[in-house]
Amino acid sequence: MIITIDGPAGVGKSTVAKMLAKKLNIAYFDTGAMYRAITYAIIKYKIDIENELAVLELLKNNFQYEIKEKNGLKLYFVNGEDVTETIRSNYITEAVSLVSAKAYVRQNLVPIQRKFAEDKDMICEGRDMGTVVFPNAKVKIYLTAKVTVRATRRFNEFVEKNPQNITTLDKHQILLDIQNRDEKDTKRKVSPLRKAKDAYHIDTSKLAAEMVVKKILKIIKKQKRIKFSYRVVSFLSKIFLKTFYKYQVYGKENLIKGAAIITSNHVSFLDPAIITASIDEELHFLAKESLFKVPFFKIIIKALNAHPISGKESNIQTIKKVKDILRSGQKVVLFPEGTRSYDGKVNKLLPGVGFLINLTKCTIIPAYIHGAHEVWERGRKFPKLFGKNKISCTFGKPIRHEEFEKIAKNERIPLILNRIETELKKLETWTENGCKGNLP
Ligand code: DC
Repeated sequence: MIITIDGPAGVGKSTVAKMLAKKLNIAYFDTGAMYRAITYAIIKYKIDIENELAVLELLKNNFQYEIKEKNGLKLYFVNGEDVTETIRSNYITEAVSLVSAKAYVRQNLVPIQRKFAEDKDMICEGRDMGTVVFPNAKVKIYLTAKVTVRATRRFNEFVEKNPQNITTLDKHQILLDIQNRDEKDTKRKVSPLRKAKDAYHIDTSKLAAEMVVKKILKIIKKQKRIKFSYRVVSFLSKIFLKTFYKYQVYGKENLIKGAAIITSNHVSFLDPAIITASIDEELHFLAKESLFKVPFFKIIIKALNAHPISGKESNIQTIKKVKDILRSGQKVVLFPEGTRSYDGKVNKLLPGVGFLINLTKCTIIPAYIHGAHEVWERGRKFPKLFGKNKISCTFGKPIRHEEFEKIAKNERIPLILNRIETELKKLETWTENGCKGNLP
């Protein structure tokens, strides 16, 4: 799950994100540090920030950004140099607003930020996390505090670090700096700081960090709750499958955290229910538009977060939706054969699915459903309830998109499809041989 925290300078985002990450035992990602790091590199290599080509060249060829952890502290490296302290210096703070306002800088850093969060539960803090980088995050927090409060907090931090060096001017200067950064962060053209429509607003002016964390934990608990109708369908599916078909799940360890595209073979109308019952998180499905017209069935698929796909080429909205869901760290289920199998065997996969997968660059998890064809083959009105039929669902090893990145673009789609089909067939053979030994 991705949790975004946005807000102005000095509002306590980092403090809260760190505390929250510790409580939830998940990672946190300070994207401000990344903008600071690129600012450092631009200054160090004497690059003119207005020279777009030179900045792009730096980003492409001479900016290796790494985050390491030592004794619970995050260390930031640029091209192997530890810049943890340096990026907090005044000269960086003064320059960073100018750098982070450039569209060509953001366009390059945002994909890296999304990549960092791939396969993970993560708290991401910055200015545009909830609005631009992870617009579909399940929990979005927007922190604010009066500018005078924020200045006092920064001043106190400053006093702690420089006890010999306090003057009243410093406090006033901090207030001016923060006002100046607020102005730049909120008024810039690209990705200005603003509250996402669905973000929870917390005014921290009168709250200690612990209280803010407590409030956010409450919000997470509420948001984590799986939609009621989804829970009902998932619960009933489990009971139904266990009662009538001794249903089993294999390979759950292959279900990575966070975003993934689950590609399942398609043998019956039970398949969405089988997948839902096999994964303990709220999933999204893509379903043929025509299925939304089938009475009763449409209620179930809507409960299961099905999104219509028309089969026409103009599925831009669906592609956008899928991208948004994946970016939020959730999983999408596809049936890449496009239609139910006639003989229960894995069939050829649709090129459109390869196209979609290639666009999203997301990790794929193959899922193989066995036994449901015998229970509810094409032409049957209702599933066979009594008999010796068993149903199982097996998840294969994740297929990472990096595997295909070195391959020429025009060859990629058939290769992706081939890879998924091969994995599904391996799972098919393994299941038909009695699910013995290690998973393929
Ligand atoms: O949070 P911070 O003060 O370390 O951020 C440094 C600068 O980076 C600040 O001027 C705003 C900018 N920033 C941004 O534009 N987008 C983000 N997601 C994070 C920070």
